[in-house]
Amino acid sequence: MGTHTGHLAERGATGQIRITGETRVSRAESPPLREARIAARRATLADLLRLPPLFARAVREDYAFYPASVQAAILRRHALRALLSAWLNVNRLVLVARHRSSVAGVLLGVCTVDGVAAVTWLYVQPEQRGVGIGSLLVRQAEQVFAGRGCHKITVTTESAPAFYQSLGYVQEGLLKRHWWQQDFYVFSKFLR
Ligand SMILES: CC(C)(COP(=O)(O)OP(=O)(O)OC[C@H]1O[C@@H](n2cnc3c(N)ncnc32)[C@H](O)[C@@H]1OP(=O)(O)O)[C@@H](O)C(=O)NCCC(=O)NCCS
Repeated sequence: MGTHTGHLAERGATGQIRITGETRVSRAESPPLREARIAARRATLADLLRLPPLFARAVREDYAFYPASVQAAILRRHALRALLSAWLNVNRLVLVARHRSSVAGVLLGVCTVDGVAAVTWLYVQPEQRGVGIGSLLVRQAEQVFAGRGCHKITVTTESAPAFYQSLGYVQEGLLKRHWWQQDFYVFSKFLR
């Protein structure tokens, strides 16, 4: 589970977190009352250049429990070249949540002609968690994938099942000792 410090947020008169972008999420948080403005959108080429340090941080801080070989594999899979290839692939999705000039979070996904989309990576910078950025990215991905004709979206997670549940995802399975010997939950949501 990530810690939710919400350093990005500022005190707001409304007492609600306001997130801007194609999707809007509002929810009360107390105390303190906060307001943050975050935009989520498809990554630009300039965004891609900012992503490798996020993956490095995720591996260092959130996935430190994995052996070095697994961490290295995760980094290789998300090196700039791999991200560029994903960005150029019409079946793939690279979304970023931007706050001013920085990237607060990233979501990678895929949707093929079979109609089932998958979130393959989701990460929010630790000091920016708990203000709705992860939710914003997932909802934005759902919209994009639904627009591409996907009827269902699925995700496997070892670390954040409650997060996906909070977004209406239902557990469809548990993969025992799956990738890297970890148990992974399979969560899904029907888009139509
Ligand atoms: C999981 C993660 C993406 C959530 O991002 P976030 O921006 O903090 O999430 P949100 O602020 O949109 O939270 C939405 C809801 O999920 C809950 N939540 C967030 N992260 C959670 C977690 N790791 N476990 C359980 N619940 C979580 C929040 O409390 C919130 O619930 P609420 O609406 O009842 O208040 C972020 O914690 C992260 O990057 N973690 C490390 C990497 C990771 O675990 N990625 C997912 C693996 S597939």
